[in-house]
Amino acid sequence: AKPGLPRHFLDIDRFEPETLRGLIDLGKAYKAGRGPDRPLVGKILAMVFEKPSTRTRVSFEAGMKQLGGDVVALTRADTQLGRGETIADTARVLSRFVNAIMIRTDSPAKLDDLARYATVPVINGLTDDSHPCQVMADVMTYEEHRGTLAGKVVAWVGDGNNVAASWIHASAQFGCTLRVAAPAPLMPSAKAVAWARQRGGRVDLMTDPAVAVEGADLVVTDTWLSMGCRDESRASLLAPYQVNDALMARAAADALFMHCLPAHRGEEVTDSVMDGPRSVVWDEAENRMHVQKAILTWCLS
Ligand code: CP
Ligand code: NVA
Repeated sequence: AKPGLPRHFLDIDRFEPETLRGLIDLGKAYKAGRGPDRPLVGKILAMVFEKPSTRTRVSFEAGMKQLGGDVVALTRADTQLGRGETIADTARVLSRFVNAIMIRTDSPAKLDDLARYATVPVINGLTDDSHPCQVMADVMTYEEHRGTLAGKVVAWVGDGNNVAASWIHASAQFGCTLRVAAPAPLMPSAKAVAWARQRGGRVDLMTDPAVAVEGADLVVTDTWLSMGCRDESRASLLAPYQVNDALMARAAADALFMHCLPAHRGEEVTDSVMDGPRSVVWDEAENRMHVQKAILTWCLS
């Protein structure tokens, strides 16, 4: 962030790797009970939800309260956003009441507008294009179980969606190889791929999940139908991308499995993988709170 400008947390591609490293390390410190003691006393976070949420809402609220602060949660329906007040005007007003704003919305342009017109830090709690807080938690979770991601092979299997785009950003920032296996019409953001490759990242796109998972250190998937997507015909395109025991058997012997949740058991992942010994999905969910406490502390200091 430039001097005088709020410290936004908008996307993983907008940082120097050292800043992201510091956030993960602070998240680990909070988890271990070694973080700063209640550094956000008196601070208030507004959370704007234009899409549903369980984890993002509760992890930000619990995290903010543990840091000594408080939250106000807003949904589109119960604010003037639902009646057409612009994001820019909402940003200006919320900035007069609260110390930071987290938003979950559809269009990334709304996130950018909020960041442009807010005079307080803005945090991306998911857009149609990315989900950076999730992937920060995923990186923290991998490191906790297996050490550094650098040099490792991560296989993204299924829809090339918002979480996949944040993984593409993370692969360049944290130095892992990312293999994406997706049906041709559902390949991930070309912009994210181009950015990562330009930064020296290794992103390989393919359509065969078996090739992507071969020897991989981490297998990641997500829902076939992201929030706001109503194209039910995707299920037939994505059926060959289910993460099941047969697919996991191709990965490295100590490979982990991740899913940002909510999972659609029996679709993108089987019960046997979700509940199996390689699954770290509950740690991923928990680590949302720890790493977001680090992000909140960074944004507000
Ligand atoms: N993973 C995640 O962001 O979950 P929610 O939609 O429940 O917030
Ligand atoms: N890709 C999913 C992630 C949910 C946390 C969605 O956008 O709905």
